[in-house]
Amino acid sequence: MLMYGWMKWVELAPQRYDWAVTLLTGGRVNHIKDKIAEKINSGDRVLDIGCGTGTLALRFLKKGARVDGLDSSRAMLEKAGALAAAAGLDRQLRLVHDSITRLPVRFPDQQFDVITATLALGEFSAEYRNFILRDCHLLLRPGGRLIIADEIYPENPFARFIYFSLMIGFWIPQFLILRRVIFPIKGLSASVVESGFAILSSKTWPINSLQLLCAEKPFDHSPDLRVD
Ligand SMILES: C[S@@+](CC[C@H](N)C(=O)[O-])C[C@H]1O[C@@H](n2cnc3c(N)ncnc32)[C@H](O)[C@@H]1O
Repeated sequence: MLMYGWMKWVELAPQRYDWAVTLLTGGRVNHIKDKIAEKINSGDRVLDIGCGTGTLALRFLKKGARVDGLDSSRAMLEKAGALAAAAGLDRQLRLVHDSITRLPVRFPDQQFDVITATLALGEFSAEYRNFILRDCHLLLRPGGRLIIADEIYPENPFARFIYFSLMIGFWIPQFLILRRVIFPIKGLSASVVESGFAILSSKTWPINSLQLLCAEKPFDHSPDLRVD
């Protein structure tokens, strides 16, 4: 909730986005992005949904991956393009201006080795998020991986008490600025499994209430979860 309230404000101006997120997470998000990049191989075809300023995509490009970065904000995409160009890696990057809710319209099935989403899925209701996860399942090749890092609802009662005690002071200003209150994601791992993935690894950081989750689209005959 805290993170997304802040995110909504900083997303309005991409030039303040990166330092603001680094400040808010005490650098944790940068560490998590480094960890995600370690899982990418040269030649991988990667889709980063809600790519923002492209700091994660740039890490993938440096590993020799071909990257599609999708975001609904032109300003964010412009910054992502400039970042990749400054590193001389923009030829391996395709920027797509569209909504995460339209993935099957934009990309053919089984196109990607890896799909990543960092701090992007909390922007959606649980229902929408489940649709997005199913779309990711369609777009990944069998054996492909879905890697998500996001702010989650603390499951442990003590951690939850600490978290909400710290955060409650942000609800009123957040509502006044954004006209809505955004909460952390509940049951992310369960939603990922329900969407047809097998979880490979999961790590949480209680203070920031962040989760890094890596899942695989199994090779077996998973049900086709497309909703027509
Ligand atoms: C909190 S930022 C995270 C950016 C980046 N993934 C990162 O970790 O730095 C969320 C991003 O999602 C994008 N976004 C929000 N709603 C979206 C939607 N419906 N479709 C595509 N992108 C969206 C925003 O423009 C923003 O760039």
